[in-house]
Amino acid sequence: MAYLSIHDDGPVRVIRIARDERLNALNLALVDELVAALEAADTETQVRAIVVTGGDKAFAAGADIAEMADATAVDMKLRDQFRAWDRIRGVHKPVIAAVRGFALGGGCELALACDLVIASESAKFGQPEVKLGLMPGAGGTQWLARRLGKARALELLWLGEPITAQEAMALGLVNRVVPDEACVAEAVELGKRLAEMPPVALRCIKEAVYQAMDTALADGLEAERNLFYLLFATEDAREGMRAFMERRTPAFRGR
Ligand code: HXC
Repeated sequence: MAYLSIHDDGPVRVIRIARDERLNALNLALVDELVAALEAADTETQVRAIVVTGGDKAFAAGADIAEMADATAVDMKLRDQFRAWDRIRGVHKPVIAAVRGFALGGGCELALACDLVIASESAKFGQPEVKLGLMPGAGGTQWLARRLGKARALELLWLGEPITAQEAMALGLVNRVVPDEACVAEAVELGKRLAEMPPVALRCIKEAVYQAMDTALADGLEAERNLFYLLFATEDAREGMRAFMERRTPAFRGR
């Protein structure tokens, strides 16, 4: 386990993303590890709920920009990184995100992909991909449009500005906001309450609720990722990601 630290608290599996020096930027290997850990927890009968968390400063600051900065649209298509993300939706047990600090880009999408979200007061949620000349690729446009409606989703996605935990709470993206130091404990506590419930009923309820949200989510995700790959053909995406790494303001030119 290069990027995760994992322990059990009674029936609750706690998976912590521990790439703190890069604010838990989600490189391909990290996401593979995370998804494998989720699937392992899903098959172990003594585990009844799963908590996914990050560090104090960042739940996850998004996809690893360094890993994408020089990639072409074809590289991205061949990388097929979202195949791993799709497997998150296949996890049957309750998955609770305990979000402290930044949940940006892919980090926000990871939180949205979890079933429940406990946010600390310091949490910041956002989809800043537009500032890199990109757009979300791991479900952000689909989840936000479904959950917030068109206007609020577009504002978040177009401006790329983060929102606070309280704002995310008001929008219905998180279940509760708690003090920073209580965040993981609160998520584990919720996991323990769920662990007392009948697992098969929980599983069927999850399946039904996702079906209710999923008129054609798979189609939407497919469309989103093709658009995401397409943006790697733009100069603006190159400029946006390079500017981030060079710590300067990007100059976008519309091509
Ligand atoms: C690679 C990252 C990173 C990222 C931070 N780092 N986020 N590296 N990819 N997404 C690195 C920085 O380069 C830096 O490395 C170190 O982590 C600490 O970050 P700082 O920027 O110095 O911290 P701070 O000034 O506190 O700013 C925090 C921040 C900022 C506001 C969260 O790091 C930021 O804006 N990050 C990028 C957020 C983003 O655009 N995410 C979307 C990515 S695209 P060094 O070596 O300098 O110390 C995306 C597409 C989704 O997610 C596709 C699906 C997966």
